[in-house]
Amino acid sequence: MKKLSFLVTAGPTREFIDPFRFISNPSSGKMGYEIVSAAYEKGFEVLLISGPTSLKLPEKNIKKISVISAIEMRDAVLENVKDYDVLVMAAAVSDYRPAIFCKDKIKKSEKDLTIVLERNPDILQEVEKAGYEGVKVGFAAETEKLIEYALDKLHRKKLNLIVANDISKKGAGFASETNAVSIFSDKNDRVDIPLTPKRDIANFLIDYIVEYIGRKRKVVW
Ligand code: CTP
Repeated sequence: MKKLSFLVTAGPTREFIDPFRFISNPSSGKMGYEIVSAAYEKGFEVLLISGPTSLKLPEKNIKKISVISAIEMRDAVLENVKDYDVLVMAAAVSDYRPAIFCKDKIKKSEKDLTIVLERNPDILQEVEKAGYEGVKVGFAAETEKLIEYALDKLHRKKLNLIVANDISKKGAGFASETNAVSIFSDKNDRVDIPLTPKRDIANFLIDYIVEYIGRKRKVVW
């Protein structure tokens, strides 16, 4: 039987204003790297598409594509996703990019500077539009109304599962070794995981996805 396969995105994206400055976020990429490592160790086929991070993969054999911007991540995901059973979008994708990229360094002046931002594509929605039939797992990092916003994303982005976390909680979310998450499914299931090392959350998530697929297809992997 063909091995179950996972495409996992991780890390932030960078949206350059000029050659020296960019808009980004504090994502370390840790959650996505742990997910891809956990899936690999469980014997599944994996591809990591990573924004800029300082992390190293534990295994040379894990396939990885490095990208910088949201557009590059979108292009890499769309090019590869059809070959994978599961897409896990753990990346913290910038929703906006500067409308104009200045090819030379912007010099300061006495005046204030206004930067116009334009929308980046929503990768999960583009994957849906492209007719992807695999399982889609999203993340929702929120500072308020965690459940309401996470469920809205689950439905709006037509996801199978969403992993929600409150990034205002100590020890949870960006650049932390631990996380506390709630996983919601499109079948109205909910699992709460208290503050736990990201690697353990990754292991649980992979098992949960496999079980979810088993229930959907009535197959044991
Ligand atoms: N995501 C995506 N493409 C984007 C932005 C986000 O595919 N341009 C994915 C993320 O990887 C994550 C999920 O969508 O799995 C939710 O991301 P989040 O930034 O929380 O959601 P947004 O739709 O951007 O909503 P908001 O920033 O307003 O909370």
